[in-house]
Amino acid sequence: MLVLRTLPLALLDGAAYDRLWSVLDAGEQARAQRFVFERNRREYVAAHGLARLLLARLLGRAPAALSFTTVTPQGKPGLVDAPAGLDFNLSHTDGLVACGVTLAPGVRLGVDVEASDRRIGADLATAMFAAEELAWLDGRPAGRGGPDLVAIWTLKEAYIKALGIGLSLPTDSFAIRPDTLELCRHDGSLSPGQDCRLWARDLPSGHTLAVATIGPEGQPPIDLVVEEGLAGLG
Ligand SMILES: CC(C)(COP(=O)(O)OP(=O)(O)OC[C@H]1O[C@@H](n2cnc3c(N)ncnc32)[C@H](O)[C@@H]1OP(=O)(O)O)[C@@H](O)C(=O)NCCC(=O)NCCS
Repeated sequence: MLVLRTLPLALLDGAAYDRLWSVLDAGEQARAQRFVFERNRREYVAAHGLARLLLARLLGRAPAALSFTTVTPQGKPGLVDAPAGLDFNLSHTDGLVACGVTLAPGVRLGVDVEASDRRIGADLATAMFAAEELAWLDGRPAGRGGPDLVAIWTLKEAYIKALGIGLSLPTDSFAIRPDTLELCRHDGSLSPGQDCRLWARDLPSGHTLAVATIGPEGQPPIDLVVEEGLAGLG
């Protein structure tokens, strides 16, 4: 089971913001208050409040009673007293936050959102992307620019986040095909017996959303209906 919820910040009125703020713990509230820019504070409160509400609904717990920990040395967040098989991941970007939760045994989840029109320079892509990805981009009408670049970036980020190892993994050590949603090279980042499934969509809000699951070989393809907003989350 995999659920994914997005929250466009445009939907976040005062009452919804206050509701999300009220479920954060003291540490999260203190972190939110340290942001210099209001925009970043809203994103943070939205992402962490959404994660609490979604996890609480799925687990039948109170959102403010959840406690978080890290599950990898590079800081992937996890839930204290998580039921077996639970993994979640959140992402925030200008105007949108997203949170995914899986309850599939042995599956790790990564989620990333980016503005679809994000400008990623060709130089940065050349430095970060694998040779296979650059060759694929060079065959596209926009070359090393445009939305194809954002698609690859977002999928790569989701994969890194599913692994939970951050940028300790060189981003050119694995290669993704955004058209077939295949991981075509991984240079040992997956253990024997594991494989990866990838999924991506352009959202009406003007963002690209990517999801990666790493799980037992033969895991099913990602089948996902993206829910939006806070309806039904209490
Ligand atoms: C930290 C990182 C995991 C994601 O960063 P990001 O894309 O800038 O930010 P996102 O909003 O998508 O994700 C941040 C959230 O991921 C979670 N996270 C943090 N460390 C994580 C890790 N090691 N693994 C998975 N998730 C992690 C946290 O919930 C974090 O939110 P918080 O800071 O509010 O607690 C990491 O991959 C990174 O630094 N990326 C930089 C971007 C980059 O160079 N990408 C290369 C693509 S080719």
